[in-house]
Amino acid sequence: NPVANLACLLPKAELHLHIEGTLEPELAFRLAARHGVSLPYADVEALRAAYDFSDLQSFLDLYYAGANVLRTEADFYDLTHAYLARAHADNLRHVEIFFDPQTHTERGVAFEEVLGGIRRALLEAEREWGISFKVIMSFLRHLSEADALATLEEARPHLHRIDGIGLDSSEMGHPPSKFARVFAECRELGLPVVAHAGEEGPPEYIEEALDLLRVKRIDHGVRALESEALMQRLVDEQIPLTVCPLSNVKLKVYDDMSMHSLRKMLARGVKVTINSDDPAYFGGYVNANFVACVESLGLTEAEVIKLARNSIEASWLDSARRDALL
Ligand code: HPA
Ligand code: ZN
Repeated sequence: NPVANLACLLPKAELHLHIEGTLEPELAFRLAARHGVSLPYADVEALRAAYDFSDLQSFLDLYYAGANVLRTEADFYDLTHAYLARAHADNLRHVEIFFDPQTHTERGVAFEEVLGGIRRALLEAEREWGISFKVIMSFLRHLSEADALATLEEARPHLHRIDGIGLDSSEMGHPPSKFARVFAECRELGLPVVAHAGEEGPPEYIEEALDLLRVKRIDHGVRALESEALMQRLVDEQIPLTVCPLSNVKLKVYDDMSMHSLRKMLARGVKVTINSDDPAYFGGYVNANFVACVESLGLTEAEVIKLARNSIEASWLDSARRDALL
């Protein structure tokens, strides 16, 4: 398919990627062996076979369990390096990646080991492959706002190496309003903020993220389609959505890729981008997401060019680098 080939070759940015979600089964077993811990699966095939999810929570249970093999700076370096090699192969020129400090500090892994390992791989990929990057510290929304505030305190000595703030984990019952104060504090520190909203949660959660958290982008946001007023606002204000098609199908937000609303939203004038979310768990990196959308939705050449451009325009790059990539 020539449109799929074009999509793969275009320079792109990825704006919605959880580094913990890039842990491939092969690396999980290698890290388990490194630390002398056992995984509750016989082998790589058995672990991969467990990646059969019914909703967001069923995925998160495995995602947090998998993170248990990530313990040292070297582990986070290896994880991030492996992701960046895939990013390079997919012609990504810029990445903005989430990390979830609470998943690790809760287990006794030092903040510095996590951030240091991730950044060492990012700096190396910038030198070797010219991939620029931003690092987004994400709060787990199933935990309390007090927990998030404590994490922000812990992050204070590292804030010069953190580019923004995100909000992820179990959405239902944990609306953006729960984090209004900690996000206000982050904004006062000059940090741009984003939040997952409207993946499983209702359009009202997207409105709360915009009005109460003052996010620059919405992660997922696909349920915006249920509110015409919100759709109009997304178009008028050109608020980017970081959509993750393979993730949405794997977590049963849509029964099938042919049902995905991405093309409809793009046609409506929403600033949609394509991202991989947790590629080790959802069956593919950025190019695989593009290919799946081209094949199932019939995206045109003009549409894939628009989606690739959107990814650069919706990034937090300065205008010089942005213009160089466009
Ligand atoms: N949604 C919410 N939390 C997450 C996700 C997601 O898609 N991936 C990793 N943490
Ligand atoms: Zn996500």
